[in-house]
Amino acid sequence: MHSYDEDLTQQVMDHLLHRLRLDSPPLGRLGDHQELTLALKDAIGRAPQSPADVLRTYTDSLEPTVVSCDHPAFLAFIPGAPTKAAALFDMVLSASSLHGVSWLEASGAVAAENQVLRLFADLAGLPAAAGGCFVSGGSAGNLSALVVARDTGRHRRGLDERAPVRIAVSDQVHSSVGNTLRILGVEPLVVPTSDHRLTGEALR
Ligand SMILES: Cc1ncc(COP(=O)(O)O)c(C=O)c1O
Repeated sequence: MHSYDEDLTQQVMDHLLHRLRLDSPPLGRLGDHQELTLALKDAIGRAPQSPADVLRTYTDSLEPTVVSCDHPAFLAFIPGAPTKAAALFDMVLSASSLHGVSWLEASGAVAAENQVLRLFADLAGLPAAAGGCFVSGGSAGNLSALVVARDTGRHRRGLDERAPVRIAVSDQVHSSVGNTLRILGVEPLVVPTSDHRLTGEALR
């Protein structure tokens, strides 16, 4: 597991090249619970498994039951960055154990992150002082944004840092926002919508 294995590396590389060359990849299908339980039986246990068998379990049983976000017919949401180039560079990052923790440990990664943030901030018309960091996804993004909203709202109104506040959300809001407000201890003010839109009139 910790030392370089030429044979295992080659098997994984072969699979990666095969997957990357697919244009387009299979869309993926819903897995059957019993079939998946059977496929994973003894996958983790006392006896070691051959790497080839582990990879085969993945390619034959698991991978087909995960939707391919890089399929042109997949438009539901964006859990990854499904370009060929992004997948390739993700491999570089994984092989390098690369992380962007802080300037002390990862100045090159942080400098690159800041450059992209600047680009996005400019495209969004945000001021020169705008900054931030990338987070793992939508839930973490909502958490981060709502903490800032809660604290800024309290500060602007001269309220105590523990003063109770409410945050208005539409009845269409993503489930992660409800979870986030529970974590923050903030009560939602749920605004009914017509045609899925949050309007000032409904809020009033
Ligand atoms: C508006 C919105 N917020 C949050 C999320 C949750 O994102 P994640 O699964 O990356 O936490 C999604 C996911 O589709 C979303 O569309």
